[in-house]
Amino acid sequence: MTVRAGSRSGSTPFDWEAPETWGPALRGADAAYVAYYPDLAAPGGVEAMETFGRLAAEHGVRRLTVLSGRGEPEAVVAEEALRAAAVGVELTVVRASFFAQNFSEGLLAEGVAEGVVVFPAGDTAEPFIDVDDLADVVVETLTTDGHAGRVHELTGPRPIGFAEVAAEISRASGRPVAYRPASRSEYASMLTGFGLPAPEAGWLAALFATLLDGHNASVTDGVKRVLGREPRSFGAFADATWAGGEEA
Ligand SMILES: NC(=O)c1ccc[n+]([C@@H]2O[C@H](COP(=O)([O-])OP(=O)(O)OC[C@H]3O[C@@H](n4cnc5c(N)ncnc54)[C@H](OP(=O)(O)O)[C@@H]3O)[C@@H](O)[C@H]2O)c1
Repeated sequence: MTVRAGSRSGSTPFDWEAPETWGPALRGADAAYVAYYPDLAAPGGVEAMETFGRLAAEHGVRRLTVLSGRGEPEAVVAEEALRAAAVGVELTVVRASFFAQNFSEGLLAEGVAEGVVVFPAGDTAEPFIDVDDLADVVVETLTTDGHAGRVHELTGPRPIGFAEVAAEISRASGRPVAYRPASRSEYASMLTGFGLPAPEAGWLAALFATLLDGHNASVTDGVKRVLGREPRSFGAFADATWAGGEEA
């Protein structure tokens, strides 16, 4: 099996902001994984899914798996736009909870490095998912039968609060990391301070505050149902990432 990674810098050029790259990237593909940036619920997500779905069908792609956010009604509209446009293509939707890797290589990694994670999550718990589990599920949906038309909701094994996350990282890394809850407006100002345009900062702060208002604090058995094994815990992820433990 040949796998090509479409990206802005790789050997298969792909840029969500340059629709002329989408068709060439799809040429010859039987199946494709769709991870829209920055988020299916962002402005432009629906239109992008309409165009991308039509192109996938035209290029003879047989299977698509799209990454979506959990508990995001606006993202569901974009999922549906892709389903409607990709006529004759098997579509699987994978809705994921917050990534554990947000703390190691995503938007919260800098806070971890500095010892204070500031985020508009209050004392809400979130069942963080390890993206390695997500990737295993996506591969399964693209390479085996039985997933067409299905929606897989993926979470980690247990909801945990951001204070407990900070404590787990401290334990695994051996250096102090704290969590400081921020209000939505305080967080938006912080993002503009980092150079984000104000509309984008406001949109992101609102998205996070909404996602972490408690409605996503439950777990699903999505990983177990697809892979036949339990998802990795945040503690195991923290050990593998900050204590030099073995990858699960
Ligand atoms: N983070 C979470 O907790 C979470 C949870 C559920 C779902 N998601 C979904 O995961 C996806 C990625 O989010 P993320 O948090 O992982 O973001 P991220 O860490 O910022 O990753 C962004 C990736 O997207 C690519 N990218 C950025 N701009 C692009 C563009 N214009 N065209 C093509 N690729 C572009 C970059 O790859 P290149 O530099 O190689 O192009 C980069 O590797 C989004 O669809 C998001 O909704 C995230």
